[in-house]
Amino acid sequence: MQLLDNGLKTSIPAFTADASSVSNERPKNITIIGGSGRMGQLFSQQLSAAGHNVSILGSKGWDDADTLLSKADLVLVSVPIERTIDIIKLATKYLSPSTALADITSIKTQPLQAMLEYHQGPVIGLHPMFGPKVESFSEQKFVVCPGRNDETFEWLLNWIRILGGNIIVCTPEEHDRLMVFVQATQHFSRFSLGAFVAEEEVDLNRSLLLSTPNYQQEIDIVKRLFAQNPQLCVEIMLATEERCQAIARLASTYNRLAQLVAQKDRFGLIQEFEKAQEFISNFRF
Ligand SMILES: NC(=O)c1ccc[n+]([C@@H]2O[C@H](COP(=O)([O-])OP(=O)(O)OC[C@H]3O[C@@H](n4cnc5c(N)ncnc54)[C@H](OP(=O)(O)O)[C@@H]3O)[C@@H](O)[C@H]2O)c1
Repeated sequence: MQLLDNGLKTSIPAFTADASSVSNERPKNITIIGGSGRMGQLFSQQLSAAGHNVSILGSKGWDDADTLLSKADLVLVSVPIERTIDIIKLATKYLSPSTALADITSIKTQPLQAMLEYHQGPVIGLHPMFGPKVESFSEQKFVVCPGRNDETFEWLLNWIRILGGNIIVCTPEEHDRLMVFVQATQHFSRFSLGAFVAEEEVDLNRSLLLSTPNYQQEIDIVKRLFAQNPQLCVEIMLATEERCQAIARLASTYNRLAQLVAQKDRFGLIQEFEKAQEFISNFRF
């Protein structure tokens, strides 16, 4: 067992993977609940390509739940955030105590708590920090929240590492606290900018012709956000009460700064800038 920088105890090795340790593994029987969804398909393809036997349990597949779940080595939950807890409760009724249970939900505290509460066997929480369109796991980040019997998941984590993925271990609480900013307020800012550009009927093609590199980058990100299913963006903003409250605080920061702009308060704006500058300059990226 090792102690991480943040004081979290885990038996997940920092980096011990080599290709032979995974190729020597026997193929696992894996059931992905929600395996026909966007992320489910990605994991299904990647795990099948690694030689594992992957089955899918979709919303209409519960008549076969006993067959699909009771003999699985690993059950991976990949369903919409708001259904995750109910599906964990339901799925765990069919699991054998030795089945490893994992989820890839974008929030971690409640799903991990539910998995630990309703399943006696090995449990881990994962959050892939990328969308379903990536071509491989190379250079992609996976947040890992240890639950119980970490060693059972070593083959899975080693496989991710061998594919070039980066594993970051943290507590579910730290994950959820930071995701408020990494995901929720970030999505809200881009969502607001897109909504504003649409309201103002900005000619994006002309604006990009005249653009600075920063503007181009920003519009590229906004374009990617609006190329997605609205459900996903809304789900990310509404996933927890903390996220909704942080978005409300961000909006009040916008308002406070906009008031200074409306009042043409140069001194006030410079003060606000310097305050944020002092905070941000403490971090070395
Ligand atoms: N999309 C991303 O960029 C992303 C990134 C990281 C993590 N995640 C997380 O990954 C999870 C899945 O997201 P997604 O984007 O892949 O969602 P999705 O495309 O909407 O897929 C969800 C899947 O869940 C299945 N499902 C719904 N209710 C079910 C039930 N009662 N029983 C069994 N299956 C059920 C659906 O199956 P049917 O088709 O049979 O109805 C669907 O295939 C979420 O927890 C999300 O937070 C998503």
